[in-house]
Amino acid sequence: MITGSAGFIGQHLREALAQANPDDELVPVGSPRSAGEDLIKIDLGDKAAVERLIQERRPTHIVHLAGNKNLGYCERNADEVRPINLESTQTICEAMPADCRLVFLSSDYVFDGERGNYAETDEPAPGTVYGSMKYESERMIQKSCERYTIIRTGGVYGVGGRFFDWILDSLKGDGRVEAFVDTRFTPTYIGDLLRVILSVLDADDNALYHVAGPVSVSRYEMACAVARTLGEDESRVDKSSVADSGMLIPADNSLNSDWTRKRLGETFTGVVEGIPLVLGN
Ligand SMILES: NC(=O)c1ccc[n+]([C@@H]2O[C@H](COP(=O)([O-])OP(=O)(O)OC[C@H]3O[C@@H](n4cnc5c(N)ncnc54)[C@H](OP(=O)(O)O)[C@@H]3O)[C@@H](O)[C@H]2O)c1
Repeated sequence: MITGSAGFIGQHLREALAQANPDDELVPVGSPRSAGEDLIKIDLGDKAAVERLIQERRPTHIVHLAGNKNLGYCERNADEVRPINLESTQTICEAMPADCRLVFLSSDYVFDGERGNYAETDEPAPGTVYGSMKYESERMIQKSCERYTIIRTGGVYGVGGRFFDWILDSLKGDGRVEAFVDTRFTPTYIGDLLRVILSVLDADDNALYHVAGPVSVSRYEMACAVARTLGEDESRVDKSSVADSGMLIPADNSLNSDWTRKRLGETFTGVVEGIPLVLGN
C-alpha cells in the first residue's frame, strides 16, 4: 500500500515498484482531491476510514508518503494539518497487521538547520511545525510500531519535483531564475531514494536512515548546475537571499548519510551526475 500515490514521490514509486516486482499487488491510495482513476481515495486524516481500508486490504507493506509538505502552510495551519501530518501515522501504526512493515518518509526539517551535516545520531530540534510533526511521528513509530523503516530525506529532485521544475520553467526561452545563496541542503536524486525504499521493504530490522545526496549546495548552486547541464549560461541565474524573503528556510539543512551508505552498501548521487540523469542527457 502506498499513501500519497498521486504525489511526486508516490508516482515515481508506483512505477519503480511495478517494474521491480510486477507480480505484487499494489494498493495505491490518494486523497479525495487526487487525480487518477485507479486510486483508492480517502482522507487519511479520517481515522475510521484508514482503519477500514487497512482492515479490508490487509497490506504486507505500507509506504506512508501522504502529507502536507508546504512549510508556510503548516506553520499557519497547524491544527488543520495535524490529522494528515501526524495522526495518520499513528492510526496506520495501530491498525496495520502485526507482520506488516511500515516505511515512513521523514525530513531534514527534524533538525534546526543551523549548522548542517546532520548525522542519524544527532539530536533533532525542529524549528517548524512541519519538522515537529515529522519528529513526533518518528518517535511514535519507534515506540509503538513493530516493523518499520524511517527514511529522512530532503530536497528530492526528479521529473515532476517542484523546485526542479520551477528552475526548468524559469529558464525556458529567455527566462531567468533567482535562487537563494544563503541556504544549503543536500539534494537527493530520486533514483537513490526509490532504490532504498525498494530495498528496505524486505528488511528484517527496524532502522532510521538518512538518504540524501553526498554534497551540500545552496539553491543558487543547484540552479547553476541545472543551467549548466542544459547548456545555458550561469549568468541567467541571479542570486537572492532568504534573509530578504521573509521565508521560513534555515541556513543549512544538509544531511550526512555516511552511516546509512555504509550500512546499506549504497552510493548516493551528487548533483553533477544526478541532474543529467533526470534531464536525460
Ligand atoms: N519531496 C521532498 O523533497 C521530500 C523531502 C523530505 C520528506 N518528504 C516527505 O515525503 C512524502 C512525499 O513527498 P512528495 O514530495 O511526494 O509530496 P507531494 O507531492 O506533496 O505528495 C503528497 C501526497 O499526499 C497526499 N495527501 C495530502 N493530504 C492528504 C490527506 N488528508 N489524505 C490523503 N492523502 C493526502 C496528497 O494528495 P493530493 O493528490 O490531494 O495532493 C499528495 O498526493 C511527504 O510526507 C513529505 O513530507 C519529501
